[in-house]
Amino acid sequence: MKLLPSLIFTSILTLSLAHAQTTMCFKENHKSISTIETTSLNGGECQNQKSVQDMKKEGWSVADIDISKTENGSNYIYIFKKEELVLSSVNEKALEEKILQRLEERKTLELATKKKEVKMRMSKDGKKLYINKCQSCHGENANEIYGTSRALTELNFFDFKTTLRDYGLGEYDRGQAFVMLPYANLMDSRDVKNVYSYINSLKPKENQKDTQKEIIEEAK
Ligand code: HEC
Repeated sequence: MKLLPSLIFTSILTLSLAHAQTTMCFKENHKSISTIETTSLNGGECQNQKSVQDMKKEGWSVADIDISKTENGSNYIYIFKKEELVLSSVNEKALEEKILQRLEERKTLELATKKKEVKMRMSKDGKKLYINKCQSCHGENANEIYGTSRALTELNFFDFKTTLRDYGLGEYDRGQAFVMLPYANLMDSRDVKNVYSYINSLKPKENQKDTQKEIIEEAK
């Protein structure tokens, strides 16, 4: 599958294959701090030959230093790090799979973020509308029984949506539809989702989940 432009290809290639190496070198009982960088170090990749300066020339950077005083000077412990590209060890198929997997992961993340944003936006818009136009009758927490109406938190999204539509069509009446009619008429389908999203946020957490999915599916 050659779906990706070569530009993306190479940039992801270098990103995903940057591979960090670390090594530890040390020097015991060294006398002067002014010469430590040019003194050959023991251990690790320094192999009793390379100094800090040599290591830097080879592309290592100092990730950490630990210095402790001793009777004869100081002990120095260096941790070096190097980012390396290992290009040859990966075949093209594996690479493509990796890239596709990355893209898939990113898509999932973006979708999750978008859903969250949609939810927050809906709930915020809905809150304003609910407080201004519905709260006086249906209560601050949407759980009051007003006249012939049930508590709105008792209704699932489907019932909520259809009852409001049916008020507009003159097909739903629990006895006082005339009181509710003007409010049903002022909401468009977006308002209905927004308001329900807000009502949903007033319910106990464990009752919110499915409904959110239902509303967001519709809002997409
Ligand atoms: C002036 C008071 C009042 C206001 C304001 C009001 N409603 Fe109502 N609502 C009622 C009454 C009364 C009923 C019951 C009507 C009937 O008998 O069918 C009702 C019923 C409903 C129902 C159906 C409930 C059920 O049990 O089936 C929904 C949904 C609803 N209202 C949503 C809203 C929304 C959303 C708003 C704000 C945009 C709103 N209402 C504003 C008085 C009000």
